Amino acid sequence: MSAPSASGVLRAAAGDLTPFADPSVSALVDGPGERPPWLDELARLVVTGRLVVPRTTLTAAALGDFTAWARSALAGAPPAVARPLLEDMAGIVGRVRVGAGNGPVLVRVFTEAPTRRCGFHVDTVPPDSPTVGAVRVYNGPTTEYVASGDVLGMADFYAYLSRRERLSRQAADLCRPDADAATETDTSDTSAYPANAADTVDPADTGTDPATAAALGELLAMDENPSFLRPGAPIHRVPDDATVYFRHIDVTRHWSPHPVSDTWIHRSPMRGGPRLVLNVSPTRTVSANPGRR
Ligand SMILES: [Fe+2]
Repeated sequence: MSAPSASGVLRAAAGDLTPFADPSVSALVDGPGERPPWLDELARLVVTGRLVVPRTTLTAAALGDFTAWARSALAGAPPAVARPLLEDMAGIVGRVRVGAGNGPVLVRVFTEAPTRRCGFHVDTVPPDSPTVGAVRVYNGPTTEYVASGDVLGMADFYAYLSRRERLSRQAADLCRPDADAATETDTSDTSAYPANAADTVDPADTGTDPATAAALGELLAMDENPSFLRPGAPIHRVPDDATVYFRHIDVTRHWSPHPVSDTWIHRSPMRGGPRLVLNVSPTRTVSANPGRR
């Protein structure tokens, strides 16, 4: 892997977040290690709809807040999956909390198929919050990202993001996941899944109004060739079975021309079956004086 000054991404071990002391590091990829067998069974449960986690957002002021929720959410799963999964998720939540000075974190968990709604973006935290959060995809296609050194600049990126968000709203009905994706049972070959509607539809032949079709066409072109990247720059993918710890941007700096390595530009895959995804982010400033609230 390239030096962090060029890529902004390093391999890390055991959730060690100390490399973030280097401002050129935008993300740390932790793993993959040896693949435990429970991940295969977890993938089967998620893809076949036998384990469903409705989109959930909770604030974990203490680690117990998360584990209490997770025990309940995973109560229907086989213990051989639920136990190691809970332990793994709690470890990630705990590491983000420690990195945030033991402050509260925001946890988002869900099992859903990817859609085209969100393209490349950066994650934000509230004003003055710690900034290092995490994402873990437990099955299916993983997160895509770009190297810091391949980004022309944040002004270019935010112009792209603004335009794409507008197009995504215009083409919202055409960016829905393909419901059939939830019925596949083969977890080893994601190419077996039907592509999402937006991938299979000719924008000019959608039966919708021309403006919506045009919006979808432009959106697809933007996803294919992101204008904020230097020509020919590759799009990377997080390895399977890895957790990424990454810089979020303080929401007050979102849309500003900050250094590229101050955050991590990434996107979800655009197709595939249901995935179990865990997102963790710090939620607010840790008090300089813990004795006062
Ligand atoms: Fe994100």
